[in-house]
This record gives sequence, C-alpha cells and structure tokens, in this order.
Amino acid sequence: MEQNPFIPFSRPWIDETEIEAVSEVLASKWISTGARVREFERAFAEHIGVKHAIAVSSCTAALHLSLVVTGIGIDDEVITTPYTFTATAEAIRYVGAKPVLVDINPETLNIDVNKIEKAITPKTKALMPVHIAGLPCEMETLHHICQKHNLLLIDDAAHAIPAEYKGQCIGTLADLTAFSFYANKNITTAEGGMITTNSDAYTEPLRTMRLHGIDKDAWARQSKRSIWRYDITTEGYKYNMTDIQAAIGLCQLMKINKMHERRQNIIQIYNEELSKIPQINIPAPADETSKHAWHLYIIQLNGVDRDLFVETLRDENIECSVHYVPLHLFDFYQKQYGYSVGDFPCAEKVFEKVVSLPLHPALTESDVNVVINAIKRILA
Ligand SMILES: Cc1ncc(COP(=O)(O)O)c(C=O)c1O
Repeated sequence: MEQNPFIPFSRPWIDETEIEAVSEVLASKWISTGARVREFERAFAEHIGVKHAIAVSSCTAALHLSLVVTGIGIDDEVITTPYTFTATAEAIRYVGAKPVLVDINPETLNIDVNKIEKAITPKTKALMPVHIAGLPCEMETLHHICQKHNLLLIDDAAHAIPAEYKGQCIGTLADLTAFSFYANKNITTAEGGMITTNSDAYTEPLRTMRLHGIDKDAWARQSKRSIWRYDITTEGYKYNMTDIQAAIGLCQLMKINKMHERRQNIIQIYNEELSKIPQINIPAPADETSKHAWHLYIIQLNGVDRDLFVETLRDENIECSVHYVPLHLFDFYQKQYGYSVGDFPCAEKVFEKVVSLPLHPALTESDVNVVINAIKRILA
C-alpha cells in the first residue's frame, strides 16, 4: 500500500506577510520591546473588546504576573483543574501558593463547577479555570462562586482565542485573562503571551513588572530622550515581548477569522464522519450563544486501546497527541502536594480514552479525509 504523506498534528500558518513583517523589524534595528509591541497590544485589546492588553513572553508568564499583581502568595490556595498543561499549576507554585485541583466534567473536559465549592477553604484566593480545547467554561457559575466567596477569577485562556461565552469574548470576563501565542496555538508569535483586563489598577503594575520593575522601558526612555535614567518601582521579571514577536502577532491577528473558519470547516468534516463510528465520541460543541475556539479536536475512544490507536496512526504517517495526562498522576505533583491515583476519577477515566487529532488551518480537505479513512480502517 502506498504511504500517506506525513500529516502533522499542528503547524503554524505563516506566509509571506509574517516574513516581511519580521524582516521590517530586523531592518529597523529596534528588535526588542518597542512600537510593534504597543501596536499589537492595542490591536489585541480592540479585537477582544477589553480595556487593556499587556504583552508578555508566554502564557506561563501571563499567569504568573496575574497572580503576583493580585497579591496571591505563600500559603494561599488557587483552585484549578487537573486536566491541563502543567504551566497552569506551575504558575500557582511560582508565587508559593498551592494549586488545589477539582475534577472535570467528562463531557466538556472543563472544571466541574458543581465540585468547586467543596474545595474552597479560608485560604482560597482565586479560581483559575482553563477553557480546554477552546470550549468556554461555565463563566456565569464561576462568577457566581467568585462573588459568593470573594474570590478572584484568573482565566487560563491559552486555548481560547477566538472564543466567546454568551456573546462576549473570553478575555473580557475574568479579573485577568492569560493567552498563549506558543507555536501550536490558534495565533502564534513563536513564543509569547498576553494578559487582558478591564482593571486600570492592575495595568501599570503589570507593564512595569514584566520588565524588571523598571518604571520606563527602553523604548519609552529613548523616545523621551532620557536614555539612561530610570527607577525600579516594584518587583520585576524578565517577561517582555519583542517587536519581532509582536510583528508576527499583528499579522496573525489579521488572519484570525480566516484561520478560525478553516478550523471550523475541518471540525465539520471530522464531526460528520467520526460521529458514525460507534467506538468514537466526538467533542462537545459550544452552545449556540457561545463560540468554540477549536484549538484542539479531542475524541474519546470506547473499548479501544488508545496507545495502540495512536501508534497505528503514527505508522500511517498521521501525527496525533494526547491532552492531557492529569496533573495528579505526575510524580512531582504527587510528591509536592500529596495527590495520588484515584483523586480525580473523571479526569483519569477521560485520560485513558482521549486522542487529539491533527487540527490546524493549513490542513487540506484531502488531509482530513486521509485521517478519517485511516481511522475507519483501524477501527473496522
Ligand atoms: C492550558 C495551557 N495553559 C498554559 C500554557 C502555557 O503557555 P505558554 O507556552 O505560552 O507559556 C499552555 C501551553 O500549551 C496550555 O496549554
């Protein structure tokens, strides 16, 4: 049998526009944080419909700074999900707080809002939900819980652009929201992140903290002709974004709707064909008032050896992935926080069954059909 062409799990949609934009920045000789970063922040804030956007070096940095600026620290607790990438809980650990995990809803894969209140203690300071795969969490209930218990809502929206909950963009609905522009994300800057907030009080400290706590960044100093003088006004971190990254981000933002449309078309074909296969449960959609970002397409297998399924697809030149190994199954989280197997049964059960299929805007209809036909063959 003739071998399929290799179908990657994910690939950024980069074309001449990004290449030219980066070349322009390089030619300008101002390659770190400067005018392009400002421009990207303004464009991003406008796109989301939020007052402030603060560009940083990653989503992990965005989550960390969000915790620092709200004063969350040693001995505090932050409630999040075990069904996420380690960065979510890692950022909580950076400030000395404890990530308190709450099991998931096995259909949406998002945190089970009905189990959150049981996990709240006098030490709980915030909820950190994750919109897994780009499906918005139940924000209304999360708000209600935050109001009732006086908690902050810090959103991990690494997967959630462009996502909407009841007509409002993710990024406008929490005290602070963290986005990722890592290479495989729905829009990329290679590495990068953004914090969005409607709070004026958080904005200036975040801008200062992302670059060593210096009161003016190099761009502001040079444009004010006071090249060398600065003050350190707060604690700081090296979390700034460069103009090279921002130039890519600006191009990606212009294409975001087109790229999302491509993702939706792919999803439609997957849904139509895979829903006919009894061993597969297709992912839960967003309700009609919300919008799924479709960062990942996660199917659940019934009565099939998941690892063998992934390996067999790999033999057919089709690259899949698994999202996620629940955090409490990792050695570090067990040793550090005393979590163990059996603590979050829904996350564990789902983990055994999930496979993330190839999904990115450059995937052609013919690629999608190759994936579907291979799956049909394997499961027949
Ligand atoms: C849910 C989630 N949160 C946070 C991150 C961290 O993003 P970054 O690589 O931009 O720090 C990721 C990255 O994949 C993620 O999937």
